[in-house]
Amino acid sequence: MDAAQDASEPAGGDAVAAAAGPPTNGGIHPVLWRDGVVVMIDQRRLPLEEVDVVCETWEQVADAICTMVVRGAPAIGVAAGMGMALAARAALRAGAGAPAHFRAAVQAASKGLFETRPTAYNLPWALKEMEAIWSRDDLSPAEVVAEMERRAVQIYEEDLASCWAIGEYGAALIEGEQPVILTHCNAGALATAGYGTALGVIRSVHARNPRLHVLADETRPLLQGARLTAWELSREGISFELITDNMAGYFMSRGLITHVVVGADRITANGDVANKIGTYTVSVLAREHKVPFYVAAPFSTVDRSLPDGSAIPIEERAAIEVTGYGDRCWAPSGARVRNPAFDVTPARNVTAIVTERGVALPPYEDSLRKLEAK
Ligand code: MRU
Repeated sequence: MDAAQDASEPAGGDAVAAAAGPPTNGGIHPVLWRDGVVVMIDQRRLPLEEVDVVCETWEQVADAICTMVVRGAPAIGVAAGMGMALAARAALRAGAGAPAHFRAAVQAASKGLFETRPTAYNLPWALKEMEAIWSRDDLSPAEVVAEMERRAVQIYEEDLASCWAIGEYGAALIEGEQPVILTHCNAGALATAGYGTALGVIRSVHARNPRLHVLADETRPLLQGARLTAWELSREGISFELITDNMAGYFMSRGLITHVVVGADRITANGDVANKIGTYTVSVLAREHKVPFYVAAPFSTVDRSLPDGSAIPIEERAAIEVTGYGDRCWAPSGARVRNPAFDVTPARNVTAIVTERGVALPPYEDSLRKLEAK
């Protein structure tokens, strides 16, 4: 079978017609542009409290990304785009009058936002989209501001639409009367503009087949599965059980998982996938037990400039996330810690990559290139 041809004729063509319907964020707002400020639900406090953080400056957006008020690759990209719109407004207000000064101020913001988190490709992708505007000589600073605001909101809307289409394409791959999907971390509405990538697929499957059941990995160390995925699935009334990360092999070995669906932070030209730490382990288990392993991500996550996953920058986070949680510390003081936040799943472990443009099958070098050109 010619996989690349297959990819350009994605599975579930009929279902995807539904993607033309208006996508919504399901009432969950990881990041919103509202009257010249950026509003985010504080994901660090979920599910115990639903509290908004309002960012009036790009520096506040950068801080929110670093501290994971907002997290998840597509949501980080959307936030960065909106942060750049705030930076442009501020530079204009500050009377950075001459276009050269205005652009220098905006460029500094772009650098500051770029340095917040290194792995998710959606972040540099969104910054490049904004640079394509602020670097234009033919626009005045006031025109740049208007254009950047428009594009920031458009990136948000495009991500919503992409997640919706990913859900529809992905749902067509989940066969069986009573599928049991394992997911890792949170690739839900909270990690995107809304709807989600992996959880978008789960939402779309559930709309067709309410007998769907989900196993959610808790996802050490920051518990995005236990806190965020479980919160989203509860709100949607989707049947699920929470498991610790080290239980996935137990359930697979007993034939109790029919599919794995995860999100991605960066996908390289050959189809290697960086995602939340622990994803690689799940992929090895899935391969051993012949469980299909699907990755769901928009094209803003695909970095075809990198040939393979060995070049993906992997964020290492603070030791305190591993030695305890919140105010509690349970490791002995002085314990040395490693805390890589992501790992790389090799393309050979990935059954298919579900994008808003269709489903890419191996060899991904060909299928991703064809889909990108679509
Ligand atoms: O560290 P996080 O919470 O930002 O990591 C999030 C993930 O790894 C998600 O699985 C990934 O960003 C995909 S989100 C649609």
